[in-house]
Amino acid sequence: MQLQHLLGIEPLQPQQIKEILDLADQYADRNRTSSRNSKVLAGCTQINMFFENSTRTQASFEIAGKRLGADVMNIAMQASSIKKGETLVDTALTLNAMHPDLLVVRHPHSGAVDLLAQKVNCAVLNAGDGRHEHPTQALLDALTIRRSKGRLHRLNIAICGDIAHSRVARSNLILLGKMENRIRLVGPATLMPAGINEFGAEVFHDMEEGLKDVDVVMMLRLQRERMDGGFIPSEREYYHRYGLNAAKLSNAKPDAIVMHPGPMNRGVEIDGDIADDLSRSVIQEQVEMGVAVRMAAMDILMRNRRQNLEEAQR
Ligand code: NCD
Repeated sequence: MQLQHLLGIEPLQPQQIKEILDLADQYADRNRTSSRNSKVLAGCTQINMFFENSTRTQASFEIAGKRLGADVMNIAMQASSIKKGETLVDTALTLNAMHPDLLVVRHPHSGAVDLLAQKVNCAVLNAGDGRHEHPTQALLDALTIRRSKGRLHRLNIAICGDIAHSRVARSNLILLGKMENRIRLVGPATLMPAGINEFGAEVFHDMEEGLKDVDVVMMLRLQRERMDGGFIPSEREYYHRYGLNAAKLSNAKPDAIVMHPGPMNRGVEIDGDIADDLSRSVIQEQVEMGVAVRMAAMDILMRNRRQNLEEAQR
């Protein structure tokens, strides 16, 4: 697989998605054993640049890199020269001059990570750019679904809540669509993105109807940091209509799984009891698969990079 960067799900072929998931599946199994550490990325320098808050994504990229033997460095972007007026590209060029092998980047602006990838000569991995893409999140969601449902095609999947501001929804829509699933988008009209019809998903404004007979319920946080005005009347009203509780979930298939990328706002988009119900909720598995998927993605990118560097030296 000749991937140089992982900037989004959009450019990936279904076969490439499958290859990443197959490798991640192996890492997931190995991560549960005591022989989880290896030297696959020994000698590689990985720099994590997070211009936006993150708990699980940043931690799992760091753990994934360390588990594979990379030299991992986290830059606290809040304390960096960006605060002194340096541009994103200048910061990236500065780091690039130190010859890292991989930059893992999260940025509040859609397209910023693609731009950065054009300026540097190391591999770039998108850890979320604005409301555009979050490819490793979609991959870890896909792996979680595949492991719990035994397949990743012909499933009925409802993505619910703040679709408009969500890169998670966007990357998932693209990935799950490529794998031939039937996708429903459930939420108020104000939280549906423009051009929604292009995705070939069914849109529901009524949660009971939207969840009818689905195999997977994927909940999303209200992304207030990307809202500039009143998108919902009140959190109470939102919870009443769109918060996932046992009554609403009873419309889905009896074995439907509940997912959430985190961070979760209990009592806003999801009832705490549902989130904690281990017979339905796979939220902790999603976090576990996150490490495995990031190990697989970095393994593939670094293998390709090594090969390209060797060819260039010949
Ligand atoms: C998401 C993100 O940052 O896009 N979180 C994550 O990466 N797990 C979703 C969110 O912020 O709500």
